[in-house]
Amino acid sequence: MIRRSFLKTLGALGLAPIAAQAKLHKAPYSGQGLFLTTWRFGLESNQVAWTRLQEGGSTLDAIEAGIRRCELDPAERSVGLGGRPDRDGVVTLDACIMDHLGNIGSVCGMEGIATPLSVARAVMEKTPHVMLVGDGAQQFALEQGFPLENLMVADSEREWKQWLEKSEYQPVINIENHDTIGMIGMDASGILAGGCSTSGMAYKMHGRVGDSPIIGAGLYVDGAVGACTATGHGEEVIRTVGSFRVVQGMAQGLSPHQACKAAIEAIAEFFTRRGKDWSHTQIGFIALNKSGEIGAYSLRPGFNYAVKSADRAELLDADYLLD
Ligand code: GLY
Repeated sequence: MIRRSFLKTLGALGLAPIAAQAKLHKAPYSGQGLFLTTWRFGLESNQVAWTRLQEGGSTLDAIEAGIRRCELDPAERSVGLGGRPDRDGVVTLDACIMDHLGNIGSVCGMEGIATPLSVARAVMEKTPHVMLVGDGAQQFALEQGFPLENLMVADSEREWKQWLEKSEYQPVINIENHDTIGMIGMDASGILAGGCSTSGMAYKMHGRVGDSPIIGAGLYVDGAVGACTATGHGEEVIRTVGSFRVVQGMAQGLSPHQACKAAIEAIAEFFTRRGKDWSHTQIGFIALNKSGEIGAYSLRPGFNYAVKSADRAELLDADYLLD
């Protein structure tokens, strides 16, 4: 009774926890599992996640395995090993993870450890904290037995040296058609989780952190409602608390597609209000709700995402706001 009246009061103030506001009245999820991952590299990562789930892993185990596949692939140049460096030639990685109960972990600006999502999970499960940055994140990772590696591959070094000739920093839309890996999913019983991992913007200022390790911006999961993750220009996703905004939209009755679209429209509105040049900006969201409905939306064309379920493994183009 106390909890109900407390929630009622918070609800009147618009402050109720998302789950308590949920207006999902759809059929409960009846699948065998579902994964949604940003960009083309999501096809393989989804398959790895799916296999882990079928082997008896939890949703969180599956997401960690799926994202790790991408982090350890030196050919993927925006995540983990092989990620592009900052303007000082240092590869720094950001990642976060969240489960259906609100457990969270994050690392920011971590050097020399190829699997930041697993370190974020260790922060979540083995420390009293939720976020570790820079040297402290690396120190913790080493204590946990993660290997120290040179994350700069030859192609990244060559491109960085070319970039240094002009040193003009400009965010690039859909760089090579991929960016952050964000994965959200659920198991057969509807238990949700999510993860997000990136090397951030190529040639960023040393110390710059984007949305990907920020819970609420790059990722948000509410076990009673749904999950969302983001890709693209992290500053704008942070400014609008993008992934939380999408999950909040679903809690208020929007479909995942409608909620992603509403968040992109809010970002466009923020740009317009501030009178800023946004011609070089791309942002995309993917979302799923507790009933197993999925959705995605981006600011511009070019954003795709991979879906995996028992009877589906495909790459879909997101709808978008601007031509
Ligand atoms: N979304 C990745 C970043 O902005 O760092």
